[in-house]
Amino acid sequence: MTASQPGPQSSPAVGVWAGPLFPDRHRWPVKLSYGAVILAPFQPRDWEEWSLVRQRNQAWLAPWEATDPVPRERRSPRQLFSRQRRETKAGSLAPWVIRYGETSRTPLIGQCTISNITFGAARSGSIGYWIDQAYAGRGLMPAAVALATDYAMQVMGLHRIEICIRPENAASLRVVEKLGFRYEGSRPRYLHIAGDWRDHHCFALDASETAGGLLARLPPKPSRGLGAAADSAARQSQ
Ligand SMILES: CC(C)(COP(=O)(O)OP(=O)(O)OC[C@H]1O[C@@H](n2cnc3c(N)ncnc32)[C@H](O)[C@@H]1OP(=O)(O)O)[C@@H](O)C(=O)NCCC(=O)NCCS
Repeated sequence: MTASQPGPQSSPAVGVWAGPLFPDRHRWPVKLSYGAVILAPFQPRDWEEWSLVRQRNQAWLAPWEATDPVPRERRSPRQLFSRQRRETKAGSLAPWVIRYGETSRTPLIGQCTISNITFGAARSGSIGYWIDQAYAGRGLMPAAVALATDYAMQVMGLHRIEICIRPENAASLRVVEKLGFRYEGSRPRYLHIAGDWRDHHCFALDASETAGGLLARLPPKPSRGLGAAADSAARQSQ
């Protein structure tokens, strides 16, 4: 993989790279892809499709969802989106939706976001993610996280990426295990998830541990060839 060659531009606003070829410098919005896995900047036009996928996956996502510990400060999804826009503009957030496919039909199947981006002496960020249940178990999230981490380190110049996971979340623990994230320790009552303060296991990688990039640690490119569940989910989202 080369990190220095900019790819062709498909539109003036968003750079598109057919493979894991990254631009020389970070400029948001940026669209990245690896095989059929696409990280596309979260745009207002994604709202409707995002809402449908989220509704369909409510029970699947609920145990792992961030909740607001102060009920009177609870925000609607639209208010959360405006906060997201402000943070993106300030450079502390890189919110991507995950799309999947190699043709013009690339349904929205999840999210992968780098939050708490700080520069100065830390140069770090935290990754959070979810995927549509119909697309689970195909190695798509490891590919999305590898793409985001490689971009963060090779282009944004971050030194460290962190991922914190509830100990009960076996599927998410597999994602960091597959990518070789290092266990750093546990944080008791770290985040308010599914209505209460939950313990988390924290994993991280810094630039000294990622020579060659995380994409190189993946099995061959995630391909198409989805099962019936994913096809039916994609039809429902259209
Ligand atoms: C965690 C999550 C993002 C993993 O994404 P993914 O693309 O399915 O990741 P993988 O394909 O690498 O699968 C990871 C593990 O999930 C489990 N898994 C496989 N198929 C599955 C399915 N259909 N349903 C549920 N879990 C499955 C397996 O243990 C798999 O590990 P394996 O490949 O060693 O068998 C996804 O399960 C998810 O979105 N869960 C709900 C939200 C969430 O937990 N977010 C993360 C919070 S930290």
